[in-house]
Amino acid sequence: MKTLLSKEDLYDGVMRMADAIEACYQDRQLTIVGVLTGSVVLMADLIRVINLPMRVGVLQASSYRGATTTRGELVINSELMLDISGRDVLLVDDIFDTGHTLVRTLEKMHDLGPKSIRSAVLLRKNGRQEIDYTPDFIGFDIPDEFVVGYGLDFEDMYRNLPFLAALEEADITRHKQVTAKSQM
Ligand code: IMP
Ligand code: MG
Repeated sequence: MKTLLSKEDLYDGVMRMADAIEACYQDRQLTIVGVLTGSVVLMADLIRVINLPMRVGVLQASSYRGATTTRGELVINSELMLDISGRDVLLVDDIFDTGHTLVRTLEKMHDLGPKSIRSAVLLRKNGRQEIDYTPDFIGFDIPDEFVVGYGLDFEDMYRNLPFLAALEEADITRHKQVTAKSQM
């Protein structure tokens, strides 16, 4: 796998995001909501370096895709989420790709009456956006490649890598072999 961002690069990016978030909210109480599962690593690092009083919650967003490549319906499960009405809310996700997941999740949360709602993503993929929206806090802009690690997965694997890597053809072939073998 080709490393795109090292552990040190990621740490620096998270610190920059934390500084910008602190400056934005100053003495306010923040309600920070992570999108499962991709944001878990970022959430764990970010919440520990943001020096603000905060509540922490999660929600789940999954888009079910059929056998074709057509976009599936986005299902947002906010049962796990804490009450956001009247709160200053920051939604945190791993990556802003086409933008549909984040924007539709924000719309749904907006209906719950937060005082304010902003968004933070670790990554924005260049040249992929289909929606006219810019997240308020962005860690890194990356080229249009499929990336894994630091929370991001391919078939639910590689989220635990401490660095960010681009998956290449050979990695996918090896992934399939290893998966098949471990299921024998
Ligand atoms: P969007 O709705 O197209 O912006 O896609 C958002 C979701 O697709 C993200 O939350 C990720 O779960 C997933 N995704 C998009 N690009 C990548 C990638 O390069 N690696 C892993 N997951 C990705
Ligand atoms: Mg995701």
